[in-house]
Amino acid sequence: MTLASAIFMLAGCGAGKDNPGRAYMPDMGESRAFETYIMHDSNAVTLDVAKRGGNAFYYNGEPVEGTLRIGDELPYTLPNDSSGYRLSATVENPIKDMSVMEMPEAKRIYQINCAICHGDKAGGNGPLATAGKVGGVANLTLPIYVEMTDGTMFHSITYGKGVMGSYASQLDRRERWMVINYIRTLQPTP
Ligand code: HEC
Repeated sequence: MTLASAIFMLAGCGAGKDNPGRAYMPDMGESRAFETYIMHDSNAVTLDVAKRGGNAFYYNGEPVEGTLRIGDELPYTLPNDSSGYRLSATVENPIKDMSVMEMPEAKRIYQINCAICHGDKAGGNGPLATAGKVGGVANLTLPIYVEMTDGTMFHSITYGKGVMGSYASQLDRRERWMVINYIRTLQPTP
């Protein structure tokens, strides 16, 4: 009998009801706990072979740069301030080539959320506007809105403008771009 197997057999002996016995290489039975989502000390654990001592890697639990959560596509990063509003004019509509199949959905979104103020045909004459409940509703068929870029519209729909509230929690980003494509169909072609 080799020495190793002798030790192995001995390790199993002596275990009784109140004595758990000796565990031989416990890591093989129960893995060590590693806290995945806590910040780890990058000084203690490092990728630098020269410095790393017993620790083989550095892991800080942060997602890889550029990672998008599910539902977070089409990120929009401009802030809700005057410089953000100005810069929004340069932001391209990422779904310019929206399929015709999606247009009825865009129309539905507009009619549920926007028509109450802006009107069915975007003329600024929805029921809340004509009843005088909300003042200054934009007539989106006017030249200033025909010329307004999709990016600026997106900015205002996202953060709100004047008495119009933000639609960021009601409509996801894709829906907000979609509704802009629908508004374009209601505007006169310049
Ligand atoms: C409660 C009434 C109301 C609703 C509902 C509403 N709006 Fe507005 N909207 C306004 C008013 C008022 C303005 C003018 C804001 C200003 O310039 O001060 C405006 C302005 C705008 C503008 C011009 C933004 C700019 O930068 O000048 C756009 C685009 C717009 N709305 C789109 C939408 C869309 C899309 C929806 C639905 C998702 C919507 N609105 C829902 C009242 C409303």
